[in-house]
Amino acid sequence: MSFRRRRVGLLSAAILCPTVADWFALRKLRTTIVLTPSDIRANTGPVADTLMRMAGSPTLSDVEGGLEMPLLEAMLTQRAIRRLRPDPLDDAIVLRCIEIALKAPTSSNGQNWEWIVVKDQAVKQKLAAQYRPAWALYGRAMRRRNRGDDSASRTFDAVDWQVAHLAEMPVLVVACLRGGRVPFLPQPPLVESSYYGSIYPSVQNLLLAARAMGVGAALITLPLWSVTVARRILGLPMSVRPCCIVPMGWPLGRYGPTTRKGVGDVTHLDRFGRQPWRGDRLARQKAPSRG
Ligand SMILES: Cc1cc2nc3c(=O)[nH]c(=O)nc-3n(C[C@H](O)[C@H](O)[C@H](O)COP(=O)(O)O)c2cc1C
Repeated sequence: MSFRRRRVGLLSAAILCPTVADWFALRKLRTTIVLTPSDIRANTGPVADTLMRMAGSPTLSDVEGGLEMPLLEAMLTQRAIRRLRPDPLDDAIVLRCIEIALKAPTSSNGQNWEWIVVKDQAVKQKLAAQYRPAWALYGRAMRRRNRGDDSASRTFDAVDWQVAHLAEMPVLVVACLRGGRVPFLPQPPLVESSYYGSIYPSVQNLLLAARAMGVGAALITLPLWSVTVARRILGLPMSVRPCCIVPMGWPLGRYGPTTRKGVGDVTHLDRFGRQPWRGDRLARQKAPSRG
């Protein structure tokens, strides 16, 4: 975390000695704290905690510079951030992420998304109440299936945390799609693919924008296991279908490299099963080091 040099002494003193007077001093200093893209990349740590507590949550202008992060770095380090602080998230940051999400393609350029930004505690609680039983069931099965896998177990712990704290997260963005489907009738695969394929590119854009600005975010669907209940909670008409939720807020954890399969192991040449690149390490790129 860096800020204008001439303020470093005062600010550090305030962090080391957080009295009420310091708190007021810091509130005045609020506008002089400049988060650079590398601050946002490095994101969190005890100093960030202290600043957040004493100087208030960052605004869009504090973090918008993060959007200049190289695309490769954003893509290589965007991972599910499930543990979020309850501190408020500036509406302008959320709207900027959605604005960037809207640059994604949609089938027939339908642009048929609707985004519900949930901040109301009662609504968040109702969505959390939907998440709990779904994860209790699914999570138990997943834990059983992945017994002995420490990495999976850590992910499940993070989901446990997210389920328990969902209602305390500052913003839940519900990505929805309008129209395009005949209710209760199975659709041809092409129609299904084009329909849901019109939301996920935009959601990925949103996740990347959040990552670049240092905002924690993760894609979840389990709270929407009952579309009927979700529609009732969110006041959605039958013509609008909720597809997924992205809880957003300031992260408790860090963004960082993800573990994925090797490119050669999932890529086929001309027809399925022909895998000349199997075992190829070509694209197993390391995330760039942070500066
Ligand atoms: C369609 C879809 C639905 C998902 N639903 C959930 C969910 O309900 N709960 C959850 O914790 N994560 C959910 N995830 C997130 C995945 O679990 C996550 O992307 C995966 O574990 C990889 O995590 P990483 O990017 O941190 O490596 C979902 C992801 C996708 C693409």
